[in-house]
Amino acid sequence: MNSVKFWRDLPEQFEDALQRARRLEIPGRLQISSRLVVNYAKPQEVLIVGMGGSAIGGDLLKDWALGSVAVPLEVCRDYHIPIYAGSKSLVIAVSYSGDTEETLSAFIEAVSRGCMVVAVTSGGILAYLCRRMGIPMVELPGGMVPRSAIAYLLFPLIVVLEKLGLVSGIEGELQEAIEILRRIRDEVVPEVPITKNRSKRLAAVLSDSIPVIYGDRFSRGVALRSRTQVNENSKLLALSGFLPELDHNDVLGWEAPVEYTKRFTVVFLRTADDAQEMKLRAELTRDLIADKAKRIVEVFPEGSSLLAKMLSIMYIVDVASIYLAVLNGVDPTATTSINKLKSQLGDRTKVIDHVKKEVDAILD
Ligand code: F6R
Repeated sequence: MNSVKFWRDLPEQFEDALQRARRLEIPGRLQISSRLVVNYAKPQEVLIVGMGGSAIGGDLLKDWALGSVAVPLEVCRDYHIPIYAGSKSLVIAVSYSGDTEETLSAFIEAVSRGCMVVAVTSGGILAYLCRRMGIPMVELPGGMVPRSAIAYLLFPLIVVLEKLGLVSGIEGELQEAIEILRRIRDEVVPEVPITKNRSKRLAAVLSDSIPVIYGDRFSRGVALRSRTQVNENSKLLALSGFLPELDHNDVLGWEAPVEYTKRFTVVFLRTADDAQEMKLRAELTRDLIADKAKRIVEVFPEGSSLLAKMLSIMYIVDVASIYLAVLNGVDPTATTSINKLKSQLGDRTKVIDHVKKEVDAILD
């Protein structure tokens, strides 16, 4: 199955993504038109603009950047960028297909406001518009489903931050992450039996129940990613949350009658938050809901750096969502409802026509 090939090649895709991103040249000054000049320098804030599988790299980046990037970093899943975004903001527009209307709309808004815009895409309208305006762009290989292109949708973001002086000295961390992913791959591939394969075991535990995926401050994005992987690959509804926030709302949901709560299997993603208060919270929360959930399982990370820890648990759960699709007899690569909505909207909103006209007006 094609999807298995994508997941098998994930470590090599991270390597390739790194090389592609490193080839990116960001100009100091970009004259887009006689009226619009952009100066690329160390930004005061970062916005990652994208939707779905293309936005999630931004969430992973945000968790990873918590302790290392000294400026605010937000993920923007919208047609519009926030009012504060301007010439000192770095806006990375990420769309695997390059044709997502919300991303294109936010992209052109950022260009018009003189933001430092960089695009990450495999082609489509986004690539075409970047070429017309000279906007720097990391070009990705085509032919994948966006969610399986996570390597290409994450590493270029890190490299762009590095190129603009927001992070440094990260080579060791990137290489460790790739190494750890190779090790995980050897464990989770289809040839390895369930007794030795954490992804197969997780899929088996999740079948016949509704997954509830809980992260912590460093696996907030991975928990969201895991939920959406279950949605998109396994074609199932799922819930996600993260500590400490879930101790202030979700826990009350677990007070529901046990006939109801017994349908849910909880997956705790344990990452790198070794703070005493967080460990205690995770244990107490687990004990609180132990008798209410169908099952509670934990996924532990590998590696020593934060990136390796985040990506190792992501890889295990991602592959589990593919096995879950197989167990449920559905095609993990299909995106029927997403495509249907995109085309129904595109025919009526005319956002893309509007974006193209904006570009004509800028270049006029
Ligand atoms: C993931 C997926 C969707 C897309 C989203 C945006 O595999 O298919 O979540 O990522 O619809 O499309 P792109 O990524 O092409 O901008």
